[in-house]
Amino acid sequence: MQLDLQSPEFIANPYPAYARLREQAPVYQLEPGVWLITRYHDVEHLLKSPLLNKDVPSMFNQRYGRNMNDEPVFRIHNNLWTLMDSPRRKLVVKALNARKISEVRALVQRSAEQLMDKWIGCGQADLMNVFACPLPVLVICNMLDIELEQSLDFLAETKLMVKPGEPNLLTAAELNDANAAALRLEEFFREICRQRRKQPGDDLVSQLLVAEEDGERLSEDEIISNLIILFAAGYGTTANALCNTLRLLFLYPEQRELLIAKPGLLSCAVEESLRFNSSAPITFRTAMESFEFNGVQIASGDAVYLALDSANHDPEAFVDPDRFWIERPQTLKKSLAFGHGSHYCLGAKLGTIEVEVAVETLFRRLPNLTIDNVDQLKWEQTWVLRGLKSLPARW
Ligand code: HEM
Repeated sequence: MQLDLQSPEFIANPYPAYARLREQAPVYQLEPGVWLITRYHDVEHLLKSPLLNKDVPSMFNQRYGRNMNDEPVFRIHNNLWTLMDSPRRKLVVKALNARKISEVRALVQRSAEQLMDKWIGCGQADLMNVFACPLPVLVICNMLDIELEQSLDFLAETKLMVKPGEPNLLTAAELNDANAAALRLEEFFREICRQRRKQPGDDLVSQLLVAEEDGERLSEDEIISNLIILFAAGYGTTANALCNTLRLLFLYPEQRELLIAKPGLLSCAVEESLRFNSSAPITFRTAMESFEFNGVQIASGDAVYLALDSANHDPEAFVDPDRFWIERPQTLKKSLAFGHGSHYCLGAKLGTIEVEVAVETLFRRLPNLTIDNVDQLKWEQTWVLRGLKSLPARW
């Protein structure tokens, strides 16, 4: 069966193609040495399997045909992915979880109100641009105790930093821009680390600097890579999750009315939206050794893409999976929107809180919120993130 993952039709609605793959080719060869897995039970199993690891550095080197560690942007990505594959990952988890959930929620609330104050008087805006994108960046800046506009345009720099994650290889000009952004961010955070060593606070940078377990500490380079990727991993995923949730609530008005009538359903609505249109729809692993899977031979070094959003629409795991249903009965299966196993998303709680608070704040402060032509919104042409180009709204 033929599959064009970059076609506008697939990007707009990948679910029928995924349903055919789950039926006919659950271990699908995208190209020699590159596999796509689509069934829930297979994806869940492989996310936990010791036969695969998250060797991003090798994948970059293989795709570009040279050692990419010489390029600043790849060096920073590689530092982080190597750390994420090591037991020292728990030091980052510890620092990220140091704040109480109630404090995080209050911080997100303040940030959402602060952003809305700027444009609420306009009567119309692109919510992607004025709200969904800046919110996670503002929250992370607050967590790190740095000013949003201190010296960098974090949103622009971060967009350049995530480019290597896209399916297309970088052009020479894109690589130059990404490297320049990486160096600016690196220098900025090195200076912040220097300041926090001198004068520690209760911010995340200070927590990462002192995080220690079993005599293990994070190196400064690891901390810097981690700080940069916190922006990169947290902003596109969360911004898209928020706009996808709003789109679904307007596309299915009876579900929006149900939510407004029963605000206690907010966390179910966000969970269901993340299942229905996962904003991080795919992840990948590298095969550590050769093995047979569902009758297919996977060789050591092969890339294995795991389609989380296909898994999330698998009827073997979810009743009526193509229905957006905020009162979905609790089934035994959990959505894989944040992954599963040892690389489960580090920002799952934060991302969920951000979307919940943003939806609640928008609906409360803008009771007449309207999105015109909600069924014709355009999707960004990317495979690794599922998000809208824009979300024009009126109130
Ligand atoms: C709704 C928003 C978000 C979604 C849907 C999402 C989804 C995901 C997914 C699917 C993965 C991949 C798991 C894997 O490869 O197995 C992941 C990993 C990750 N996420 Fe998130 N994420 C979100 C928000 C955030 C935020 C806010 C942060 C940070 C502040 C964050 C930081 C990370 C990091 C550092 C990883 C790598 C973890 C590892 O490889 O061990 N994410 N996320």
